[in-house]
Amino acid sequence: MISRFFSYSSIFGYALILGILSCGDKKPKEQHPAKDYIKKIDGFNDSIPQEIVQRGEVLIAYSDCYSCHAKDKRSKGPAFEDIAARYPVNKAYIRLLAARVIQGGSGAWGHPVMTPHPDLSPKEAELMVSYILSLKKGSKLDKF
Ligand code: HEC
Repeated sequence: MISRFFSYSSIFGYALILGILSCGDKKPKEQHPAKDYIKKIDGFNDSIPQEIVQRGEVLIAYSDCYSCHAKDKRSKGPAFEDIAARYPVNKAYIRLLAARVIQGGSGAWGHPVMTPHPDLSPKEAELMVSYILSLKKGSKLDKF
């Protein structure tokens, strides 16, 4: 009898906990601001050859990037111009961000997660990131 009482009460306990958890879900989701607060990272800015920028732009157009990103405004992911404003334009950051595109990322811009892109080669991802960082205001592009 006692053991039955305990099992009933633990079922009731679980139900209560589930109820509390699902209540939590109903709370309005944290609103993402239309514009990201940009923590600018210091570093030197290199120039990117125009040809590389163009190749990156084409690769991005043929991938799924625009389903989560837009050039000048936040959608599921940060605006490309905001990413460009945040990171220095140089090889080290291009490599870092290319690795994040391939492996997927989260935490740098808040809660949403970027899906991994394992089919991209490091070279392709670097071209894509070069295009994104070339959107930095006043960035130097080598003109051919
Ligand atoms: C499923 C949605 C989604 C897709 C598809 C997607 N992204 Fe993202 N991307 C995000 C989100 C969300 C973030 C922010 C992640 C974070 O907070 O760290 C992000 C961040 C980034 C960043 C900045 C990473 C950092 O650490 O600051 C770059 C660069 C980027 N994406 C490039 C791309 C490229 C290139 C593609 C296409 C190959 C792509 N993304 C496709 C959602 C996406």
